[in-house]
This record gives sequence, C-alpha cells and structure tokens, in this order.
Amino acid sequence: MTVPPAEHATAHPGTTPPPGCPAHIGTGPGGATRLYGPAAETDPMGLYEELRAAHGPVAPVLLDGDVRAWLVLGYLENRDVASRPTQFSRDPRVWHGWRSGEIDPATSPLVPMIGWRPDCVCADGEEHQRLRGAVTAGLSQFDHRGIRRHITRFAHELVDTFCESGEVELVGQFTEHLPMLTLTHLLGMPDESGPKLVHAARDLFKATETSLASNAYVLECLEQLVVDKRARPGQDIASALMAHPADLTDEEVTHHLRLILLAGYETTANLMANVLRMVVTDPRFRGSLAGGQMTLPEAVEQVLWDEPPLMVCPGRWANDDTTLGGQRIRAGDMLLLGLAAGNVDQAIRPDPSTPVHHNRAHLSFSAGTHECPGQDIGRIIADTGIDILLTRLPDIALAIPEESLGWRSSTWARHLTALPVSFAPRSPQAQDEPAPLPAPPAPTGGLPTAGGGLPTAVPRPGNAPEPERRPAPRASWWTRVSRLLRRR
Ligand code: HEM
Repeated sequence: MTVPPAEHATAHPGTTPPPGCPAHIGTGPGGATRLYGPAAETDPMGLYEELRAAHGPVAPVLLDGDVRAWLVLGYLENRDVASRPTQFSRDPRVWHGWRSGEIDPATSPLVPMIGWRPDCVCADGEEHQRLRGAVTAGLSQFDHRGIRRHITRFAHELVDTFCESGEVELVGQFTEHLPMLTLTHLLGMPDESGPKLVHAARDLFKATETSLASNAYVLECLEQLVVDKRARPGQDIASALMAHPADLTDEEVTHHLRLILLAGYETTANLMANVLRMVVTDPRFRGSLAGGQMTLPEAVEQVLWDEPPLMVCPGRWANDDTTLGGQRIRAGDMLLLGLAAGNVDQAIRPDPSTPVHHNRAHLSFSAGTHECPGQDIGRIIADTGIDILLTRLPDIALAIPEESLGWRSSTWARHLTALPVSFAPRSPQAQDEPAPLPAPPAPTGGLPTAGGGLPTAVPRPGNAPEPERRPAPRASWWTRVSRLLRRR
C-alpha cells in the first residue's frame, strides 16, 4: 500500500511526540494514527477531528494489526467514494494487502469485516445488481404494517419481563433483543434463536480473538436455516432468496442471510440505545418529543446525523491510482467511509447544534449503489420499539449519573454498555387506558409510529404464528406524558 505514514509524520513535525511519550499510544509505525486501541475507543469523534485538522478530508490510518488504510472524513468525499464504483470497488480482493502479507487471513480479527464473501456487499456492477436484486425482493415482500405488528408483539413481551420491577437495564434487556428477535423472525428462524445470536453477533463486531468463532457460529445457524427452508419454504427472507430468479446457490443464500442479520442487528440496536440515551439524558430532546415539536421519527433521524450506528464503514478499494481530498491514492489501497466524521463535516454542517428536522441527507446509511436497502426496516424497529417502551413506561429516568455511562468501541462502531433506568412499577400488559385514545400528531417525516394505533386487520405472513391479541391501542407516550404533567 502506498499510504505514506512517514511523509505524514514529517509534514507535521511539531505534532509528532518523541518515542516513549504517552501520546504515542494512538500512533503506529511511521507515526500513522491507530483507529483501534485505547485512544480510538475513548473518543472516536475527537480522533476524527484531529485527523481532519492534520490531514484534511482524507487521512492515513492503521487498523488492527497496524494494517494501513485511508479514512475518508469529508462529507462530499464520502459521497464521491460511495458513488463511483468503477473507481472505488467494493470487492476486497482488489486490496494489495492480501498479496503483500500485511494481514494473516487465518487469524486477523479484521477478516469478518473486510474479507471477501459471496454476497452483494463484496460485488460490483452486474454481479452486485443480481445479488442485491434478490435481497431487496426478500426485504420488500413484507408489508410495513405487518412488520410493525411483529415488532409490537416482541416489544410488549420484552417490556412485560421487567415492567413490574421498577428498574431495567435497557441495553441488555431491550435494545439488544428487539432487533434480533425481529430480524431472526423475518429471516424465517424460530424465535428462540434470538438470544444466543445476540451474543455472537455483538462479538463478531468487536474484532477480538473470539470474533472468528462467533462468525462461524452465526454461519452454522444460517446454514441450518437454509436446509430447513429448502424442505419447508415459508413467507420469509430465506425462502424469498431461494425462490428469486437470480438463482442464488445455497452458499450465496447463507451469506446473504448473514449479511442481513449482521448489517441490520448491530446498527439498529445501537440506534435504539442512542435515541433512548438522549431521551433520558437530554431534557430538551425529551421535552421536544413530549411537547410534539419533534416526532419520534424526527428524533431518530437527528440521532442518525449525530451518532451513526456504524461510525466507520468498511470498505472500498481503489481500482486505479487517483487523487482524493488532496491525497494520492494508489491502485489496491483500502478506503474506509467515515460516516460519523462526514455527518459533522463543517462543509455541510457549520453548526452541528442546529436541528436537522426533515433532513435525511446524512451518511448513516451510506450512499450510492450499496446504500442500505434495509433502512426502512431499521427505522420501523427503532420507532416502534421506542414508542411502545415510552408509552408503557412514560416516566423512565436514568438510574445512574450520566457520567457513569460506559461505551464499548471498536474501529467500526461504539455502543453503550448499559443504560439503567428506573420507573414506577406496572403490571404486565397493564390496561390502564380504558379506551383507544386519539392518535398522536401525524409525523411529518418517515413512517408513522406505533403510537398511532396497532394495525388490526393486517394479513398474517405465511407460516408466522398468530400473534397474541393485545389490548386496545394505547395513547402515544407523549400524550401520556402530557397527561401526567397535567395531573401534577
Ligand atoms: C439503523 C439501522 C441501519 C443502519 C445505520 C445501516 C447502515 C448500513 C450501511 C452504512 C451500509 C453499508 C453501505 C455501503 O457499503 O456503502 C449498509 C448496508 C446494508 N444494509 Fe444496512 N443499516 C441498518 C439497518 C439494516 C437492516 C434492518 C437491514 C436488513 C433488514 C440492512 C441490510 C443491509 C444490507 C443487505 C446491506 C448491503 C447492501 C449492499 O451492499 O448493496 N440494514 N447498511
């Protein structure tokens, strides 16, 4: 790779700490900045700004094992890279690191994130269209109301497990489970698969020594699903992938199921935790929601701008020598989309504190031909799950000082380790509202929230179990908050 760390070190001699200095903790060979390890994990946003100040919109960085890459920090540069697939390939086999021995594919924890697989993420051009066509067909077969109904059932069941106790740790007991329960259900897996997969999927993203084993476990579960669905197809994503005219092999089906599960799970779980953290830590945020100045879908979009669930997206590989953001990129170099850095680029957001209501131009779902095809499902899971939680427990409050909240970070994402909250204990499935109440104000962006009322006559997908009958629709949480406030 031609990332020239030494050149960059000498270009800013005044900022290069002497050997042995603690500031070296975050730097690797030649003074290039590590995008992993303590410095990167403590304050990733601060690190991106340091890199931007030192190198401009494209910076040389080091990944686990001091593997070299370019981090794209500029908003326009990110869009440019994502939208020019002939210049910037999505096929990792273009990378010269495989041939130069820069990485050991048998042991590197980077392999689950940057290794080639027979799925649409690793394909360009016509092959990408063939594979992505099957994925989008599989995802779009579901009516959004039908998906929402399943999310509603899962969310109520989760809330029932803790609503009597008056306290809950939301990450471990809610936000990590709802997306996995929903996605495994849509894929066609039995509901009991969810909890075990939560652990494996989280671990896979951490790039630790157990990542490879977790990856193998996830694949094993999905291979079994393919065998089951070949024998007994249903109305689910696995069966849709198999039936699609793109004629996917079993291996391709398995890898696309893995892709959908992993691409959708971690991201949606992070998004939910980030929105809920804002609700319990930022009175203005909560006040805007409760007062109706901001709808829940708008709140979700704001958080997508400020805290993208995937902060760094792997990866693109340069097909030819080129220049980007003032840096000379050589054929075979690896580039990473800096989604979080791009979203706060001053070139497009001079004042990050200005609300971004109605604006969905963020990079959190990437851009170009690989832009996330599951974004609506991710939004529905987040909107519906959070609305149900806050409708049933409108008084949740952070149970620890905000400064005690902890994060776990990797190069790609960071997520809250715990979000403990307390609330007044309530009975499971409590029917404390005697009759349906008026729906909340219609959202002006995104999809309507579950608080608008549960669909009552939605066709049941294929072999899906008949969901439990729920009480009549509850008032949305902000309506209930307003009532509580009025009673005081
Ligand atoms: C808030 C939730 C989500 C976020 C932030 C998110 C973000 C992303 C990002 C950044 C990419 C990479 C695009 C690129 O390489 O340029 C992506 C790809 C993808 N996502 Fe999502 N995603 C979310 C939810 C989902 C869900 C729920 C699903 C499926 C149900 C899904 C399925 C996919 C697939 C299949 C791809 C690969 C597309 C391709 O390469 O053509 N995502 N997502």
